[in-house]
Amino acid sequence: MIQYAFVLGSNWLLSIAELLSYFQDRGIPATLVDHSRNIAILEVDSDLHMENIIELQSALGGCFKTGRVLYRHDRVSAVKAYPADGKTERSARNLLGDLRWAKKIWPHVKGKRVRFGVSTYPVLSGRDEGVNYRKFTRKMNEQIKNWLAKNGTKRADYYSYDEPDRRVPGRLNVALWPKTIQKNNLLTPPSAEVIAAFTSRGLYIAQTLIVYDSLLQQYRDESRPYISAEISTSPKVCRTLLNLAGARPGDTVLDPFCGTGTVLMEAALLGMKCIGIDNDGNQVQGTKSNLKWLAQDLGQKLEYSVVVGDARHLTSLISGQVDAVAFEPSLGEVYKEKPERPRALEEMRALTKLYRESLTEIAKILRPDGRIAMTLPVVNTKSGKLQIDVRDMLRETGLEVYPLLPEGMIRSEASVDENVRISPERQQLPERKRGQVVQRSILVLVK
Ligand SMILES: C[S@@+](CC[C@H](N)C(=O)[O-])C[C@H]1O[C@@H](n2cnc3c(N)ncnc32)[C@H](O)[C@@H]1O
Repeated sequence: MIQYAFVLGSNWLLSIAELLSYFQDRGIPATLVDHSRNIAILEVDSDLHMENIIELQSALGGCFKTGRVLYRHDRVSAVKAYPADGKTERSARNLLGDLRWAKKIWPHVKGKRVRFGVSTYPVLSGRDEGVNYRKFTRKMNEQIKNWLAKNGTKRADYYSYDEPDRRVPGRLNVALWPKTIQKNNLLTPPSAEVIAAFTSRGLYIAQTLIVYDSLLQQYRDESRPYISAEISTSPKVCRTLLNLAGARPGDTVLDPFCGTGTVLMEAALLGMKCIGIDNDGNQVQGTKSNLKWLAQDLGQKLEYSVVVGDARHLTSLISGQVDAVAFEPSLGEVYKEKPERPRALEEMRALTKLYRESLTEIAKILRPDGRIAMTLPVVNTKSGKLQIDVRDMLRETGLEVYPLLPEGMIRSEASVDENVRISPERQQLPERKRGQVVQRSILVLVK
């Protein structure tokens, strides 16, 4: 059995759902055997080809790094070796420091110059977990450096984390950013990145094979001709939606609320044909100019059709079937502060009707075994959260909820831990953005 480690996005459950869905849709038998809020450990029967790993990493919206697991320590040894408080147990530190896995990364290093880095991933946010993660990371780097020197390297240098986590002030950051890894060519042998991922039971040591191409994504985001801070969905969320909808290269994908066209751009990048609808002519023009720009940038012909129209009347706009549908509909008013509940409730009712009428039409043109992945608003009102009533939304649409977390693929040791429990019966998964009044959840539907 081979194990792979996947570094997850901040909405970790959603990232796991996407990952499992990706493997399931490609018929690759895989089992989630352990996880934390930062990492998923998947077991597969045999090695994945590098080209499949590259495809996987570039398709997933919620995965920052993919690595191959080399070794698993017991978590207890790590806690004893680097306790957050209390005395270090020398024998535990020696056990961790013997680096029995290092030969797998560096079989021949004599006379070579090696650059490397250790990225540590705690179980949750790094606080109150009994391990001094900073010390652990620093020592790991030192121990690897010494090991390399002993094995005859000409020179060995390591990169340690370079920036605090700006998204979550105060959060521990002992991992290298994909950007740092790319810029310093850390994945070109003999250079390497080592992932040290803690779960509630184990400490996994993995070698990074590939990371999320943040530089390319940033370039596309900044260079596309049309973007709107208010409307545009993040490219990562769009990828996750496409994967949850089971969209594959060559498929025809529909976004009936296409806005600035982010879903369609991501679909086109993944080799899919695109159909976009929006009832606002400016958005349609914007999406067209984005797709035209993308085709020029890639130097490829893209297949797409984008038209002005109402999602509630799709069948009058589209002939034929689509394989997958992925979208973020209008989520209602952009509140600056929490609204009163009755006001939000009234709006939710109107949105439920819009979604129901649109989904009824979508069901008519979706391939019989096709899926729909969409976001739904979750409004933080002055008196608590308000969500769309999914049963009411699906009334007479002929659609039903598709389980986001495939139970048969989940055998994670960590599932007993309350903080990282996975409940496969969950119908929706949160896609949260810090500080926003209107949050989102993600739902997948089938006929
Ligand atoms: C949240 S935005 C979509 C954002 C898009 N994913 C992007 O990245 O730009 C929702 C879009 O739905 C469009 N819309 C609203 N009601 C519609 C309807 N009945 N039919 C089609 N489009 C509609 C709006 O004009 C808006 O552009």
